[in-house]
Amino acid sequence: MSDQASTAAPPKAGLADLLRHSADLITGLQDPSGAYPASPTFSAYRGYSWFRDGSFIAEAASRAGARWKEAKLTDSATRFHRWCARILTDREPHIREIVAAQRAGHHVPERSMLPTRFTFAGEDGTDEWWDFQLDGYGTWLWALAAHGERTAGDLTPFRAGASLAVEYLAAFWDRPCFDWWEEHNEHRHLSTIGAMVGGLEAIADAQQPDGTSLLPVATRTLARRGAHAAREFTSEHGIGPDGALRKWVGSTEVDASLASCITPFRLVPPGSPVARATLDRICADLEVGGGVHRFRADVFFGGGQWPLLSCFLGWALADSDPELARTYLEWAVAQTTPTLDLPEQVPTHLLHPSHLEEWVERWGTVATPLLWSHAMVITLADVLGLT
Ligand code: BGC
Repeated sequence: MSDQASTAAPPKAGLADLLRHSADLITGLQDPSGAYPASPTFSAYRGYSWFRDGSFIAEAASRAGARWKEAKLTDSATRFHRWCARILTDREPHIREIVAAQRAGHHVPERSMLPTRFTFAGEDGTDEWWDFQLDGYGTWLWALAAHGERTAGDLTPFRAGASLAVEYLAAFWDRPCFDWWEEHNEHRHLSTIGAMVGGLEAIADAQQPDGTSLLPVATRTLARRGAHAAREFTSEHGIGPDGALRKWVGSTEVDASLASCITPFRLVPPGSPVARATLDRICADLEVGGGVHRFRADVFFGGGQWPLLSCFLGWALADSDPELARTYLEWAVAQTTPTLDLPEQVPTHLLHPSHLEEWVERWGTVATPLLWSHAMVITLADVLGLT
């Protein structure tokens, strides 16, 4: 027996310990500005907060705050939403200008579009990035509406920012952009469309504590029209020959981020044939032993398995098959380091192992902790009634 085999393995994290640690990381690492770092020390992410990651992190903080009656967590989510709203209102003249140009039929160059990530101070980044991504603005609207509904809080401070996000998405939803994985800006990605539809519909329905609508009628109409057009587009172009949502328009591949089009974004109804075909395809092509890959051609750090994607898959399955959903949560929980941190991905099953080294050389070891991974464990545990 080798030394290694005789050394006792570190005890596996219990769910309760991991949930507590995850919540503490989220509040402890949140910047005073309200921004959530994607990962505090990872070279390529340090100093930046993403609308996409942050909105899912805020959702987890909001859920845990409500479940555990911890005002600190609820306030953390509120502070992130304030940070997002300010980013938008600070850019109001610019947003109005590009939306007007688009409506007038002028081409708006990609460099004029809003970035996907910002410094904690709310500035655009100065590093090169694959910045034009629309999904984060939809995800933010969805998370804001969910937080408002959960807390019955006054959303007035967010109205101006949310209205600008609606105008932006309603004008640009059908434009190709980089996807969740910051790739392929030449395509229209169905998970990006899902986030926009989910956000536009949720914010159009959002109500104030007194039962009045958050948004004025004209903005609600804009949001609903944009979402409707994106739904029509999905029916026409978004479904592949196997009946599953496509990774992008024209592709016959699937992407694990498409699980979000079922839950939480409801681009396709849970239980519908398209939802079932999409989840079957994700399980068949991308799931190995509970761990979920992003997409088959993924070479990033060799193309490992992402705890946050196992949680998205579990979330989409939670209503129809909670037992199966729980196995995905368990897989994610088992990926903690001895200090209970969760990485962005794990190399337990690599799709393209020969590509691992080049990424380690370029950016260092995999981002750990990744706050979005921690957030998704909280959310799935909460959905399954395990918080
Ligand atoms: C992922 C993005 C994520 C970013 C920050 C990238 O590697 O592809 O989805 O938003 O990291 O976590």
